[in-house]
Amino acid sequence: MRDVAVIGAGITAFGERWDTSFRDLCTEAGVAALEDANVAGEQIDAMFVGSMSAGRFIGQEHVGALVADYVGLGGELHVPATRVEAACASGGLAFRQAVAAVASGMSDVVVAAGVEKMTDVSDATDVLAGAADREWESFAGATFPGLYAMIACDYMHKYGLTREQLAQVAVKNHYHGARNPFAQFRSEITQSTVMKSTLVASPLRLFDCSPVSDGAAVVIVCPLERAKEFTDTPIQVLASAQAGDTIALHDRPDFSTMGATVAAGNSAFQQAKLERKDIDFVEVHDCFTIAELCAIEDLGFVPKGTAGKFTEEGETQVGGKLPVNTSGGLKACGHPVGATGIKQVWEVVQQLRGEAGKRQVEGAEIGMTQNVGGTGATVVSHIFRRA
Ligand code: COA
Repeated sequence: MRDVAVIGAGITAFGERWDTSFRDLCTEAGVAALEDANVAGEQIDAMFVGSMSAGRFIGQEHVGALVADYVGLGGELHVPATRVEAACASGGLAFRQAVAAVASGMSDVVVAAGVEKMTDVSDATDVLAGAADREWESFAGATFPGLYAMIACDYMHKYGLTREQLAQVAVKNHYHGARNPFAQFRSEITQSTVMKSTLVASPLRLFDCSPVSDGAAVVIVCPLERAKEFTDTPIQVLASAQAGDTIALHDRPDFSTMGATVAAGNSAFQQAKLERKDIDFVEVHDCFTIAELCAIEDLGFVPKGTAGKFTEEGETQVGGKLPVNTSGGLKACGHPVGATGIKQVWEVVQQLRGEAGKRQVEGAEIGMTQNVGGTGATVVSHIFRRA
């Protein structure tokens, strides 16, 4: 297996992008990534596109080919483009496919894109619910806010998590989002903003939820040994892990532990030959506030049942022991589902290059990502360091 590096990254602003089409979002992020990597279209060998449900969100399938065409890789260059789908982990999995293509020696310069245009429909909740178990969960009314609310109830019951501690996850992610020019929500909030917001699925309120978003992100990878041809600041991929679990939440032995996060995290640390204390910051899948707390516990950063206190003490904010979701996370940066996994990699690149501005983690050298599909039936995790 060859070592792999990220040589460029581009992103669009996340949010309600009424003025921009699916293909224009991809082009915006794609051109930014190509320019960032100093790569010409002729040098690209393959492309992977993460998109969860373009068919239902915009009525368009075959989006691998569509995106390649619109970023100028289709027509004359005939670059092979493959769509990757694993619900909200589609972006992370597209990145993993790109890494595998380079590591195996099959391709050299590979594009990993993630995109979703969700705001054009009025039934986004139902489209998203297709990533749960439709027969046993969604048909019974258990859509994602409801499923994560069940996780939150179970967690609160077992570990005594307070509503205030849960709210603090959103407060912290909005603090980070306010420092990310590409974030959907760029305003700071207080605990009371969260606690007084509309109840969505008890105990989760509006500000516990990631929003419905449009956006795209693109990164480019190549063999580590070629990376300096393109950039002075390559970011090495130290580990690429994926794990699975039951599609339905009710089939799990423990609602509050995401088995696939535990498995993918262990595999990633083993591959990277690193310990938890070596990680300087992590981007995790906070589709709902409770998911962030479970993620940092299941990745092994803090013992089970203590993430609420850790967050309340400010340790997950920039400047703390383990900055979590410096991009603003899904909560404040936004969650265009197929794009999120690639956005996480984009944020790692900004941090490891020292280009994250007001949300910069001082001296950041090693970063990690965790991207979840559904309630954890797919989890993808990567570890990176400055090359
Ligand atoms: N956090 C903060 N504010 C939000 C928000 C969020 N998650 N979602 C919407 N808003 C704001 C909007 O900006 C809008 O503000 P405005 O009136 O000042 O313009 C207002 O709330 C109403 O927005 P609207 O789009 O009508 O909200 P909604 O009630 O239709 O949807 C949720 C809110 C929480 C139900 C929706 O965002 C949701 O389903 N989120 C979860 C998405 C999800 O499940 N993703 C997959 C995870 S696995």
